[in-house]
Amino acid sequence: MSVTDPQPPAPDARTDAAQEALHDRIAADSLTTRRDYLRIVATVSGGLAVGGIGVASGILHRHGDTDGNPEIRKIADRIEPGESLAFRYPGDEDRAIAVRMDDGTLAGYSAVCTHLACAVLWRKERGSEGELYCPCHEGIFDARTGEVTAGPPPRGLPKVILLEQADGSVWAVGTARSGESLQEGYCRQRGQGSPLCARLEGTAPETGGGTERNERT
Ligand code: FES
Repeated sequence: MSVTDPQPPAPDARTDAAQEALHDRIAADSLTTRRDYLRIVATVSGGLAVGGIGVASGILHRHGDTDGNPEIRKIADRIEPGESLAFRYPGDEDRAIAVRMDDGTLAGYSAVCTHLACAVLWRKERGSEGELYCPCHEGIFDARTGEVTAGPPPRGLPKVILLEQADGSVWAVGTARSGESLQEGYCRQRGQGSPLCARLEGTAPETGGGTERNERT
């Protein structure tokens, strides 16, 4: 298992410029008109390490669920098959985890257990695709969907919506609540008129690692 927990990237001009550029691309619906592609993947919405505190971007309804309009943030230069990445999203205190399965599927989930908010871990060696595991009460979540497969958690993990760019960098662009599709979550946060809102159709929770590729012309 490979788990890293990088420090939040120090704001600098290059990071700001890249983030601004990605904002512009989404806002201008330029995704299909450029040469590279974006792969839309599911990950987790960051939740809270401790329940009962409002998150930076909105109000916490249940463990890991967030409202508001999270910022777009680069979380990794690359995530290789078999690796996982612990990161913070949407707020700097909101624990989340992204996992890359051996078939290349990239998925991410809140690292906040929906039972009593313990930290969720990635166990790559479990089963054919690994699993997300909460050691507090043996809660287990499906690696592809975030749904509960064992233990007391009452519902699946919220997700973060990621964009993977042609250079392999991975960006968090939004969140989806437990039981909410990626499209529902993204459209709720960014608005029905957002270009990516329509493009996320079909990336439902049951295909949490689903991808969409937009070839540039
Ligand atoms: S806090 Fe995760 S199973 Fe209880």
